[in-house]
Amino acid sequence: LLIDKGNYRHFMAKEIHEQPEVISHTLANYLDMTTARVRFPDLGVDLSKISRVTISACGTAYYAGLVAKYWIERYARLPVDIDVASEMRYRETPLPEHGLAVFVSQSGETADTLATLRYAKANDQRIASIVNVRTSTIARESHAALPTLAGPEIGVASTKAFTCQLAVLACLAIAIARARDKITVEQEMALVKSLMEVPRHIATILKNDEPFIAVAHELAKARDVLYLGRGSSFPIALEGALKLKEISYIHAEGYAAGELKHGPIALIDETVPVVVVAPEDDLFEKTVSNLQEVAARGGQVILISDAAPEKAGCKLAAHIQMPSVDTFVAPMIYAVPTQLIAYQTAVLMGTDVDQPRNLAKSVTVE
Ligand code: G6P
Repeated sequence: LLIDKGNYRHFMAKEIHEQPEVISHTLANYLDMTTARVRFPDLGVDLSKISRVTISACGTAYYAGLVAKYWIERYARLPVDIDVASEMRYRETPLPEHGLAVFVSQSGETADTLATLRYAKANDQRIASIVNVRTSTIARESHAALPTLAGPEIGVASTKAFTCQLAVLACLAIAIARARDKITVEQEMALVKSLMEVPRHIATILKNDEPFIAVAHELAKARDVLYLGRGSSFPIALEGALKLKEISYIHAEGYAAGELKHGPIALIDETVPVVVVAPEDDLFEKTVSNLQEVAARGGQVILISDAAPEKAGCKLAAHIQMPSVDTFVAPMIYAVPTQLIAYQTAVLMGTDVDQPRNLAKSVTVE
């Protein structure tokens, strides 16, 4: 199989731009596009009888799982336990009867994730894995392997695999919600339609690099960058910070917006850019008050939102204008500007974008 960069300078750029297409492919595998209903594979369990979902993964895949916790708890009203695999495997976490354990892994070979899968299997969980490599060990050892159809991902920093993982997890959340009768058919159709529009919205964001290059000029000067988000935007803040540190080597931390006042606000001054992931949803006003706290201390606020910049009620260093989308799919769409910000910053800093120092694409040791 010959894989090349096409007209892109880096695999990462190519993979970011492939997202509309590969998300479409992935969704087509789990949705009936004509009826706008979920068509989820049989996991070998009655989804209405699951007592709890346990999710585990590493790195970017873990953040996809964290978004799924918000989705499954909100829409399916089912409790979700989640931890990074390197902790869960040693936590000796008690696992419930009729539990579903979900593992997320691009490579399907990550040692900690595999070890946690084996622990869950030994503890009588039903095992479903979301993998990009269908022939991988994690896929083979699962009761059900749910493929992401992202195609080979070469860039060490994961991008298209992440949004495709979210696509599968979104469908899983809807499938569980329906099985448990927590949403109506009409609500299912509305959620599915919002998913079907994701590729189009991402394609729009990908049309213009300029805003991301401008933000990159701000971030490239910084030693530390904070990313804030609330609700399902919190994992996107975590993932955005991870992307930036992985490829630009700038120290970045993702924080739940409400936790700002419990520590990180001490770091804020005019040298600290703060990227705020804030779709205009029912949590928007709360996050706005957090970003105003940042601005009042001279912090450089970069707002990623569908809201007009004036709604921030303070001076912004930059504003990334997002399309207005259903709250449900916002994490899939808002992941993209954080990828582009990290990418453009790394390009500006001249780092090895596709093969950042000290990192490996797949980590098969502890
Ligand atoms: C490595 C990669 C990350 C990836 C993580 C988990 O650290 O550099 O990009 O998120 O492993 O990999 P997996 O293949 O299990 O998704």
